[in-house]
Amino acid sequence: MTPLVLAFETSCDETAVAVVKGREVLSSILSSQVDLHARFGGVVPEVAARAHVEAIRPLTHRALVESGVHPADLDAVAATAGPGLVGALLVGHSFAKATAFARQLPFIGVDHMEGHLMAPRIEFDTFQPPAVVLLASGGHSQIIHARDWGEYQLMGETIDDAAGEAFDKLARLLGLGFPGGPEIDRAAEGGDPRAVSFPRAIPDRPYHVSFSGLKTSVSTYLRKTRRSGELPPLADVAASVQEAIVDALVDKTMRAVDDTGVKVLGAGGGVLANRRLRARLEEEAASRGVTLCLPAPALCTDNAAMIGVAAGHWLEKGHISDWAAPVDPGRRL
Ligand code: KG4
Ligand code: ZN
Repeated sequence: MTPLVLAFETSCDETAVAVVKGREVLSSILSSQVDLHARFGGVVPEVAARAHVEAIRPLTHRALVESGVHPADLDAVAATAGPGLVGALLVGHSFAKATAFARQLPFIGVDHMEGHLMAPRIEFDTFQPPAVVLLASGGHSQIIHARDWGEYQLMGETIDDAAGEAFDKLARLLGLGFPGGPEIDRAAEGGDPRAVSFPRAIPDRPYHVSFSGLKTSVSTYLRKTRRSGELPPLADVAASVQEAIVDALVDKTMRAVDDTGVKVLGAGGGVLANRRLRARLEEEAASRGVTLCLPAPALCTDNAAMIGVAAGHWLEKGHISDWAAPVDPGRRL
């Protein structure tokens, strides 16, 4: 029997609740805190935790109503257990545990990155291991060889900033708002990605990426060209910055695909909402005859449906969490 799961995701700045039946999403809603944090130029942990507390009950009610599922029919309750902001995680995790306990249902704590990794399952029957998966979000940039579900080999990751973090910091340098990824994505529209050639860091490990050098070089470039009045149009600079990040991610990901010989490429995390990155991955996968399983943008950014799908998978395998299971802000997949 396919399990009906009520799932919560509160690791960062989105309060998200979903009801899923196996890989089928019956409802998935979220309340974004972007406006609350924008004036600080980043997510303020304490503000995030308080906003989760306010949003979680009404959101749960809405998710259940939209799904048409009666709470008595649920099979399990799941929540992100980490990585993330500890106060934010605790809200969803504790709420989920309490709900599960009150209804005598199993509770499943889910790894946020495994949620992103399993998100392609929602839309793609073809998403099956062995696969290479690119995960790029605000806190992580990882290239993973999924030999099987739960059997993940970390091939490469960032040696400094995560790709989303790089987008956010570079957007600030360009005078754009927060979060920076969507801002650069929009600002780059119609721009020439070859207008400015920013250096690509080449870490001495084959699948690792690095973005802190890019930040320094963009900052130096902006200072110089602003002073001399030679600053090109914003669209060109934004497109060039975006291209540098996209190049690094695509180059290392495709190298991992070639070296492992897998025929399936999955991807997830907020940065995968980037239009240029999506287009480049599509081109590269098609030219190799590799099946690309790239979720719709709303399933790339944080959501609770992916947590529910991952939980359902483990529930079917008989894995449930202990009532005493803690949140782990530094959890590693
Ligand atoms: O996965 P996610 O929603 O939250 C975390 O788990 O971190 O990722 C958020 C990150 C932010 O850094 C944001 O700037 C980036 O994803 N992002 C994008 C785009 N949309 C969101 N980066 C580039 N282009 C986008 N369109
Ligand atoms: Zn995420």
